[in-house]
Amino acid sequence: MIVAIDGPAGSGKSTVARAMAAREGLTYLDTGAMYRAVTDAALTRGIDVADAQAVSELAHAIDIVLDNGADGPTVTVDGQDRTRAIRTPEVDANVSAVAAVPAVREAMVALQRKAAESADVVAEGRDIGTVVFPAAEVKVFLSADASARARRRAVQRHGGDTATDANATANAEEQAKIEAELIARDKADSTRETAPLKPAEDAVRIDSTDLTVDEVCDAISELIAGARA
Ligand code: CDP
Ligand code: CDP
Repeated sequence: MIVAIDGPAGSGKSTVARAMAAREGLTYLDTGAMYRAVTDAALTRGIDVADAQAVSELAHAIDIVLDNGADGPTVTVDGQDRTRAIRTPEVDANVSAVAAVPAVREAMVALQRKAAESADVVAEGRDIGTVVFPAAEVKVFLSADASARARRRAVQRHGGDTATDANATANAEEQAKIEAELIARDKADSTRETAPLKPAEDAVRIDSTDLTVDEVCDAISELIAGARA
């Protein structure tokens, strides 16, 4: 069983995919973490993210391991824990350039397919339903208004969660800045030549702007039940 969840930044993919993994006994696969790990490694080693050749050599040389531990998913690169390091604003700002390099994608897609060889997975990213697992039994394209996504991210940055505190607000200026960044990243991800962010033709679209995490998960559980029947 493969459940594919694609969508733009802040639409709730990670939160929903992790919850679905727990609900349905699937292995959680955060493909964005892989592109983030390559970006973090490039920044740490002083490699220019615009140098496609150098970045793709790096992607093939490093050992990226995603693990779903009891305390949440972890990311190690060459044995070093980079779980938090891959979520910095600097990585946010550079990851789309790295993810646009075809040879980088080739290396990451190979890792993703390998992870699904021995387990039932719920994988989230941008090209899961279109490129990585085109035969996935369940495909969801998760979206939400840009302002809702920016509010979620802004609250998240200060340790909050709009899922558990529906009235959580963020500093208006910070939220506007995050919204501009999200829109720019979505544009870069949607307009690149290789594996752009777009819904698979057979994906079910869910707009989570006015839905709770549980409501989104209930909808996906129904799709999984349908696929298992
Ligand atoms: O969590 P957030 O939605 O902000 O981002 P992410 O899922 O961690 O993905 C980070 C970046 O990796 C995206 O903006 C894409 O550039 C890239 N990515 C991709 O190209 N293909 C994927 N399957 C997943 C992520
Ligand atoms: O992975 P992606 O960038 O798509 O989003 P995320 O990292 O899961 O962040 C979404 C944030 O919005 C989390 O704090 C969620 O708890 C919250 N949220 C959600 O995911 N879905 C909703 N329907 C409502 C809130």
